[in-house]
Amino acid sequence: MCGIFGYIGRGRAPEIVLEGLKRLEYRGYDSFGIAVPGNPLQVVKKQGRISDAGDCAASLSGPVAIGHTRWATHGVPSDANAHPHLDCTGTLAVVHNGIIENYSILKRELVARGHVFRSETDTEVIAHLLEEVYHGDLKCAVETILPRIKGSYALLVIARGDTRIIAARQHSPLVLGMGDGASFAASDMTPIVEHTRRVMILEDGDIASLTPDTIQISNGGNPVERKEEIIRWSVDAARKGGFPHFMIKEIFEQPDVFSDTIRTLRSEDPPSLLKEVPQVTLIACGSSYHAALVFKYLLEERCRIPARVEYASEFRYFTPPVEGLVIGITQSGETADTLMALRIAALHNCSTLAIANAVGSSVSRIADHTILMRAGPEISVAATKSFIAELAVFLHLIDMIREGACAARLDYAHRAIDEALLLDLSLAVECCLPAKDIFFVGRGAYYPIALEGALKMKEISYIHAEGYAAGEIKHGPFALLSEHTPVIAICPPGDSYGVMMSNIREMKARGTPLILLGEKDDRDLEEISDVFIPLPWASSVAGLLSATVILQLLAYHTANALKRDIDKPRNLAKSVTVE
Ligand code: G6P
Repeated sequence: MCGIFGYIGRGRAPEIVLEGLKRLEYRGYDSFGIAVPGNPLQVVKKQGRISDAGDCAASLSGPVAIGHTRWATHGVPSDANAHPHLDCTGTLAVVHNGIIENYSILKRELVARGHVFRSETDTEVIAHLLEEVYHGDLKCAVETILPRIKGSYALLVIARGDTRIIAARQHSPLVLGMGDGASFAASDMTPIVEHTRRVMILEDGDIASLTPDTIQISNGGNPVERKEEIIRWSVDAARKGGFPHFMIKEIFEQPDVFSDTIRTLRSEDPPSLLKEVPQVTLIACGSSYHAALVFKYLLEERCRIPARVEYASEFRYFTPPVEGLVIGITQSGETADTLMALRIAALHNCSTLAIANAVGSSVSRIADHTILMRAGPEISVAATKSFIAELAVFLHLIDMIREGACAARLDYAHRAIDEALLLDLSLAVECCLPAKDIFFVGRGAYYPIALEGALKMKEISYIHAEGYAAGEIKHGPFALLSEHTPVIAICPPGDSYGVMMSNIREMKARGTPLILLGEKDDRDLEEISDVFIPLPWASSVAGLLSATVILQLLAYHTANALKRDIDKPRNLAKSVTVE
């Protein structure tokens, strides 16, 4: 889950690649590097972040460069383990996103033949394998070695004195861009969009040869054409646009994301698979898993369709008996566990549906059908607008099953988000700031919203936070409650209101500071709370949207007050392409 970017054209390639890598840093940011194919081939690579590295490309020049920003898998973050990696002679340089599964066997063989390794990475074997077969034709050398590599890769290769970039893809995303006298190759579209809107998405097995004016692609030794697509995102969508962090920018985009997703799905007539199935299995990771749990509650309660939700990482190795429809939910479309789980579902003869955000991502090649949410590029590692877009897709699917019964309400639901964005949460933030542990609780579909709130809080503020079904909190976590352990409870009107109030009173009796989200004018709730947050649209399903946004903002402002690195939390990456 690293980011790679290559440029070949008439501009100053090292600067262009360095800027592009900054846009890809959300994929990994423990080290970075750039290589240019002069004579000699030159490399700059360093542990740390590109943003902290100053003008590190100043010593490099030329019209061709490849670069990499890393999220360590094999070998600690260090200068030596940073990409690009070179062969023994310094003739070839390679950047790679993915995992070479048979690298240790290959490395043993290469070492036995006299190759000297300078890093602990799996990637370095590629450079040494190329060294053995490269005799001036770089594309031919790449074609020769790839059958020996097992695993996943998106890679870019350059050679000393060669005026091409060779790109290859297998199970890791790789996008090519066609500019005016320049060609680009990148892990995704974000570094390309400011240069050109014309892109092609490579397929597994493709090898491409890039010059400033041409791109030639082959697969299995035969020339192939890939469809040209036009990126419709604005450049601003991949920039901060005046906000201090991508996360808060993306939170504020949510009203548009919600209504754009609903509007587009209505115009597209998505597959009506759900109407015909006896049961649905949902598989996902992280925030997408929480969104899937919301869907389960709504599908069962409103459509009476049995639904189960599984972590993709569990489903893949401990596959339950499964039939009917399996839906994989993944913002990036590249999460390795979700991709593998969908492959396994297909082996069990299930129909598969992907719900994804990134156009042309790997998941849409695996699933029988794909529904695209319309969140646009999400840069902040913590998912926000993609979660809301996932909820929009689910609410639309429910509306389809119910033959338009909720259509009018969906037209206005984005207003719940608008209203939530206006709330002043400073008292709640003050309450969270000194805490070492925070509990988030809810019932029904608000339970996964509580899980998501806790995830946001822990991943960006580093305060330990747990989400719980409110009824479960007395089966263990009660032991931890004290005047230092805030509880954030979502308590909208409805069937579970009474029992939530009892839970809240039980917690109050332990001296726990209570931040309560409930319907405006709910005096009982307000009185018992330490901080009361009126929940816009509490009595409708749009209350789920406003509760989500409130908890995102609470995490954001708490993390900001603690001066955390909000868009790039420690140890995390946005696109987890390893199992
Ligand atoms: C990573 C990200 C999370 C995301 C999860 C699943 O852990 O940091 O924000 O929810 O992956 O990602 P996906 O792209 O499959 O939705």
